[in-house]
Amino acid sequence: MVRHEVSKVVSGQYECAWMLLNHLDRILEIDPSWTRDEYLETLRKRNIVGRVVLSPMGQVLGFRIERFPKRHEYNLVHIAVDPECQRQGLGTLLIEDFVRKARGSGRKVITTIVPERNMGALKFLKSCKFLATEVLRRHFGQEDGIFMKLEVKDEGDEN
Ligand SMILES: CC(C)(COP(=O)(O)OP(=O)(O)OC[C@H]1O[C@@H](n2cnc3c(N)ncnc32)[C@H](O)[C@@H]1OP(=O)(O)O)[C@@H](O)C(=O)NCCC(=O)NCCS
Repeated sequence: MVRHEVSKVVSGQYECAWMLLNHLDRILEIDPSWTRDEYLETLRKRNIVGRVVLSPMGQVLGFRIERFPKRHEYNLVHIAVDPECQRQGLGTLLIEDFVRKARGSGRKVITTIVPERNMGALKFLKSCKFLATEVLRRHFGQEDGIFMKLEVKDEGDEN
């Protein structure tokens, strides 16, 4: 299991759930870098779903969007946490939830591509044990993308 040593999230207080259409307003507040139409168009695709992390009061504090392109692989399309709630372990919680799901469905790897200048995301993913394996030249317009992979290990074989 991916677990950051100093995760500040109190286990059991926050829960992950399926992303629903009525979460979209909060998702736009959390990460307005995509438009409503971009979120909707992405989430309408057949092999794409979303998960949210909820506060004890049921407020959406963060989310991830995932794709299952191949039988043995999951793809992290996007992840974001409310700027006011960052560095509290919620992003890690969303990745832990993803790893559990991948393990449950027999998928062996989670991949993602990060813009090379997004140092915060690169450091976050490294802290969740993703490894950078390839540089994709000009993947994001002029900007290179860093292809990252997390090997999903069996429970009890996590190190
Ligand atoms: C990336 C993101 C989802 C991380 O969420 P988070 O809830 O803050 O992450 P966590 O609290 O679980 O962080 C775990 C560890 O990752 C590392 N980390 C996370 N954000 C970091 C940052 N901005 N800079 C450096 N290290 C960071 C730290 O080691 C952190 O542990 P620490 O706080 O004890 O030092 C969040 O910063 C975010 O929403 N960013 C904007 C959207 C984005 O860039 N998404 C990625 C798209 S590819």
